[in-house]
Amino acid sequence: MDLTDGLRTRRSIRQFNETKKLSKADIEAVLEAASYAPSAHNKQPWHFLVIDDKEVLAGFRTVQPWTSFAKNASCVVVVCADTEETFHRDKDEEHWSYADIDGTLAAYGVLLAAHNKGFGACFCGAAPMPKVIEGLQKYLNLPQNMRPVAIIPMGYPAESPKQPTDRFKPEKIHWGKW
Ligand SMILES: Cc1cc2nc3c(=O)[nH]c(=O)nc-3n(C[C@H](O)[C@H](O)[C@H](O)COP(=O)(O)O)c2cc1C
Repeated sequence: MDLTDGLRTRRSIRQFNETKKLSKADIEAVLEAASYAPSAHNKQPWHFLVIDDKEVLAGFRTVQPWTSFAKNASCVVVVCADTEETFHRDKDEEHWSYADIDGTLAAYGVLLAAHNKGFGACFCGAAPMPKVIEGLQKYLNLPQNMRPVAIIPMGYPAESPKQPTDRFKPEKIHWGKW
């Protein structure tokens, strides 16, 4: 798939073919491609937790209420960023971290690589919502330094959403000065 076409035609998929599962090789190929995402200072702080246990998939909605459709996915990829590994500063007056940005870029890579292979996926938010972060850390027994950034249900699509045609708004480009 042409990259520009991929960027234009990727849509959030929330209905999955429940009879057709993604193979481990399929999932690994998606995560391999996503691992080429940019990251601050090239720290590559992402980790991917892949879950296909039906009960666990169904329970995501108890931690993040807008993930109820995860129960029908072939798997969920939880994209985490290692808060110790990511480029960050925590001294004097400076407190900042690129964890969410690095994790989100990897998550977008997951969405695009999945789309390129004909799989469906949807970014469901985690960080920066404190209750969701804490809930996921407990639910999935994540180490304290693993900050969940995205919950991505993935599988073979069972819907083809209408492609929007109005996403590009030329007035949002500000040439030279505001
Ligand atoms: C930070 C973020 C959080 C999101 N969280 C959810 C979510 O919890 N549940 C969901 O169904 N979709 C979620 N989405 C998907 C958006 O609803 C979707 O991207 C948007 O409606 C545009 O549709 P498209 O992805 O098909 O272009 C999220 C997207 C982003 C970027």
